Amino acid sequence: MSSFKTIEWKNDRVVMIDQRKLPSEEVYIECLTYKEVAKAIKEMVIRGAPAIGIAAAMGIALGALKSSKSDKSEFLSELDEISLLISTTRPTAVNLFWAINRMKELVDRNKGEDIDFIKNSLVEEAKRIYEEDVETCRRIGSIGAKLIEDGSVVLTHCNAGSLATADYGTALGIVRNAFESGKKIKVIATETRPYLQGARLTAWELNKDGLPVSLITDSTAGYVMSRGMVDTVIVGADRIASNGDVANKIGTYVLSVLAKSHDIPFYVAAPVSTIDYDCSVGEMIPIEERNIKEVTHIMGNKIAPDVNVLNPAFDITPNENVSSIITEKGIASAPYLGSLKELLD
Ligand code: MRU
Repeated sequence: MSSFKTIEWKNDRVVMIDQRKLPSEEVYIECLTYKEVAKAIKEMVIRGAPAIGIAAAMGIALGALKSSKSDKSEFLSELDEISLLISTTRPTAVNLFWAINRMKELVDRNKGEDIDFIKNSLVEEAKRIYEEDVETCRRIGSIGAKLIEDGSVVLTHCNAGSLATADYGTALGIVRNAFESGKKIKVIATETRPYLQGARLTAWELNKDGLPVSLITDSTAGYVMSRGMVDTVIVGADRIASNGDVANKIGTYVLSVLAKSHDIPFYVAAPVSTIDYDCSVGEMIPIEERNIKEVTHIMGNKIAPDVNVLNPAFDITPNENVSSIITEKGIASAPYLGSLKELLD
């Protein structure tokens, strides 16, 4: 268990650690309405694919619970509006849509029941999605840790830790499991420009939980790999196409090319809910474009002239650069079309 809570259903409210404030302040915000949850996802109070999915499910549950509709069809159309709003918050992490669909399917199965029953079922389902994520990350951790030798240095990018999930993390779940089983693991975290999830979040959570971490700038990755200072790269994923192409935080692709050229294993750790079987190739994955101020400004200070700016939040790592995909159901390797499908059985 980490020493903080990323997200929690508490007294019919959704409580989240405000990740925008880390690492300087550890403060929690309480969402009383589904609109507040949607805003929190959009504005990055909570981020990271599995955590976004949990927040979406809790947002729908909260919206349902707070609905004042007594007419069934009006209540059901309000649920559709709630899901629609939440679906527009962030486009890339498929866990958001996976969670929304799971909540919708539950409503469809229980359409004949009364409103209170549907409300309670939605709350229970959101809590179940949370609990399952804890278990899923633990499994990813124990399956993936078998690939990590004692004394390894693991390079990771962005934040795929407790802060990106219900608890424990995906990529960092593997690190945590290896560490807890007594392996002397060290982590190198890339700062992850422009939003600095590596510097602000990964370095914070590992340090807080007593795991050894060194922070580097993104452009130092080639240096450390070329000097033999990295044994393994492990990253998370926002969406995995059925051919094994991986959408993850911008800069992941560069790391995969570097890892390949230095013969370093490049692992992707993600729950099966991050695999989008309807997306056959990486190019089909929608890539979020974020505010250019993330690039042109640092701590509110303008650091660039007024030029054209590109700020895609994610990139696609082609499957040929991915050594293995580590999930709670097992490890998939190339050819991914078959191995990822087998995870469904
Ligand atoms: O923009 P973010 O912070 O939501 O991006 C998160 C990432 O890219 C993570 O690496 C990914 O979601 C994996 S999280 C277990």
